[in-house]
Amino acid sequence: MSVHVLLGLQWGDEGKGKVVDFLAPRFDVIARFQGGPNAGHTLKFGGNEHVLHQIPAGIFHSHIQNIIGSGMVLDICVFKKEIEELKKKGVDCTQNLFLSKKAHLILPSHQALDEAREKAKGKNKIGSTKKGIGPTYQDKIGRQGLRVGDILDPNFESRYRALVDRHCQILQDLGVSFEKEQKEKEFFEAVAFVRQFQFTDSEYLISDAIQSQKKILAEGAQGSLLDVDFGSYPFVTSSNTIATGACTGLGVAPKYIGEVFGIFKAYCTRVGRGPFPTEEDNEIGQKLREIGNEFGATTGRERRCGWLDLPALKYAIMLNGVTQLFMMKADVLSDFEEVKVCTHYELSDGTKTDRMPFDLNASEIKPIYKTFKGWGELEVGYSFEDFPSAFQEYLSFIEEEVQTPITIVSIGPDRTQTIEKGEFVLA
Ligand code: GDP
Ligand code: IMO
Ligand code: MG
Repeated sequence: MSVHVLLGLQWGDEGKGKVVDFLAPRFDVIARFQGGPNAGHTLKFGGNEHVLHQIPAGIFHSHIQNIIGSGMVLDICVFKKEIEELKKKGVDCTQNLFLSKKAHLILPSHQALDEAREKAKGKNKIGSTKKGIGPTYQDKIGRQGLRVGDILDPNFESRYRALVDRHCQILQDLGVSFEKEQKEKEFFEAVAFVRQFQFTDSEYLISDAIQSQKKILAEGAQGSLLDVDFGSYPFVTSSNTIATGACTGLGVAPKYIGEVFGIFKAYCTRVGRGPFPTEEDNEIGQKLREIGNEFGATTGRERRCGWLDLPALKYAIMLNGVTQLFMMKADVLSDFEEVKVCTHYELSDGTKTDRMPFDLNASEIKPIYKTFKGWGELEVGYSFEDFPSAFQEYLSFIEEEVQTPITIVSIGPDRTQTIEKGEFVLA
């Protein structure tokens, strides 16, 4: 039995939450493997919208074991709010949510550091979500972080204070004041709250699930182009967002990885700073933003919009070993008379390439486009064969270029607005 991975192939917000929710009934276990509250995964069903930040998108199904994996960074104050919000909606998470003891804790001082460092960078800022992601992963790699399992240590409070004191020193050097006492009160309320949940050695939980033939899905956060190693560094997040992150972030051996579902929008968006070769910073981008409702699910920031970028998509498919592609938000392009796709980059020396240059930030890139006819409305109830011919052409062109099949097309935010080529069989 395998662990299947579902992840974003662009700069995040591809629609991972929607599609995990759509596929959830087919799985027994759903585990997040990296990131933290920088993520905002939107689900829509039964006329309601839900945005999840740290909780896996299988939480609405009581039969699913949802795991906050060891590769994640967890803000327990945000977690408490998320759980309380779900409780108001009648969802009790105490039985089907498991927290890895090895996930690192985001402290309020990590969040303050994130904010202060962004501010200090001035116009060179990353555009971080300011949720404390970077500083927490820094402490993890620097071997001084605190983990979920440490909450059970009788010395936890003193270990917390020692780390916060170190952070306060840095904040002081940056000239930032930090409301230590107030934040500490909130944090320890969350510590008491979180104790009612099941702390686990999630690598064993998943290994046992593999051995007992359970169906497991690893839910990615952010997107491949935000990967700390292969994304548009330094305009990236601080974790490995690509498929191998599921191995390190869950303790799963590579031989157990099965399908890799790559999620991409029919166009491109990016929130935060950094290179975006196909960005349309004009009325086209504005139209995409309005129709696609492209505003951040975590920060509410406007998402930058542009056309689909095939060199970037090919790169992400290569890095992840994608076996199936899911195209999201195809409906957003229905109103366009012409739809463009970038097939190559022209570099400043005139070279034409479909590969990602080493430094996307420093490269002057002119996208080379192929133009397609618009396809008009896509309706629920269509099968792939019913798609308008212009849309079929768009799909076939992409499949041919990236040599990977598109097996799901999403035509709206609701669970029901999802069209499958034919239900796939999971090993
Ligand atoms: P995630 O971070 O990858 O889970 O994506 P987000 O939830 O941040 O952003 C995706 C947005 O697009 C959300 O508002 C979804 O409700 C919405 N969405 C998802 N799929 C579709 C689709 O096929 N069409 C449209 N119009 N909206 C969609
Ligand atoms: P989901 O899971 C889109 C972006 C931020 C910023 C950069 C670094 O919803 O797709 P960080 O707070 O991680 O240090 O910010 O990464 N970013 C996202 N963009 N979707 C996300 O998550 C993101 N998480 C982080 O905007 O540019
Ligand atoms: Mg999102």
